[in-house]
Amino acid sequence: MSRNAREEAVLSAVRERRELVNAAIDEDLPSKRPERLYEASRYLLKAGGKRLRPAMLLLTAEALADVAPGSVDYREFPDLTGETVDVMAAAVSIEVIQSFTLIHDDIMDDDDLRRGVPAVHREYDTETAILAGDTLYSKAFEIMLRTEAPPERGLAAMRTLAETCTHICEGQALDVDFETRDDVVPDEYMEMVELKTAVLYAAAASLPAIVLGADDDTVEALYQYGLRVGQAFQIHDDVLDLTVPSEKLGKQRGSDLVENKKTVITLHARDQGVDVEGLLDATDPENVTDAEIEDAVGELEAVGSIEYARDLADDLVAEGKDHLSVLPDNEAHRRLEQVADYLIERGY
Ligand code: IPE
Ligand code: IPE
Ligand code: MG
Ligand code: MG
Ligand code: MG
Repeated sequence: MSRNAREEAVLSAVRERRELVNAAIDEDLPSKRPERLYEASRYLLKAGGKRLRPAMLLLTAEALADVAPGSVDYREFPDLTGETVDVMAAAVSIEVIQSFTLIHDDIMDDDDLRRGVPAVHREYDTETAILAGDTLYSKAFEIMLRTEAPPERGLAAMRTLAETCTHICEGQALDVDFETRDDVVPDEYMEMVELKTAVLYAAAASLPAIVLGADDDTVEALYQYGLRVGQAFQIHDDVLDLTVPSEKLGKQRGSDLVENKKTVITLHARDQGVDVEGLLDATDPENVTDAEIEDAVGELEAVGSIEYARDLADDLVAEGKDHLSVLPDNEAHRRLEQVADYLIERGY
């Protein structure tokens, strides 16, 4: 299949699921008092977002249950023992966690733009943003309790969710810590992106196996798929931060350079002798221009750092896709392979 045809197949699969996920978010996370808190909590979810993680979760459920994509009600989804579970609740829970992490991430990264709109701490205030994030965090657990899976599977799903959130906090702590270190090595970067980003993809891919009652090997293989493609996703996010205009990205281009983030790109460049901290000689770091970022990207390209990152992401995606061999051979399975490719081919 050509790259264009593959991308179109992924985009339409994600689009179809995104609409259902959005409707389910409204059902599972309604507005209530205090109004400002719930308004702020729902604000980013309403602003958009690609919904890649819930789409991956629903596709994994379809692949495991061996049903034609889109043919079955996600709220009454056939498990592997002849009962039904609400896999949509798990999908919503994962997207709610995603939004929680973004709200707090923008406070930590001092970013003003998210999903093409002002970040929550800018549209509201930092106090409200912290609380909105906390509310989404705990709501995600309430929502995960609604899968109606048998108790043992429900408990395992809750454990995965809890461990995922702990890991995200650990990864974010490393990410912030690395800003003030100049001796970060590639293995530390890989560990950091596994913790801050990849574990949520791993949860998205393995939760359906847990709630549908698949065996442990299947759960583990799907977790490994999510982990590897999730690392690749973050490496590509680091490339996009440098190469895509803010209007298209929906977030501030060049933010990683301004914040002195350690990415696989800057680590590679440093090892090629580039003075990474001197790349942006902007007089006003809060207002870097596209031209300044273009110059920095030119230097990074010249020493092969962008290409190095793309190659690494390619390898991780290939590794991740190998783990999908535990799934039955069906359309949803093929879509999950294509989703993995899309994670590092996407333009925003
Ligand atoms: C952004 O994730 C956070 C990272 C882990 C890089 P996405 O790029 O999936 O953001 P949304 O959900 O589509 O806004
Ligand atoms: C974010 O990494 C990871 C999260 C856990 C939210 P980034 O800081 O690179 O994400 P963006 O680029 O702001 O979306
Ligand atoms: Mg950020
Ligand atoms: Mg960050
Ligand atoms: Mg980023």
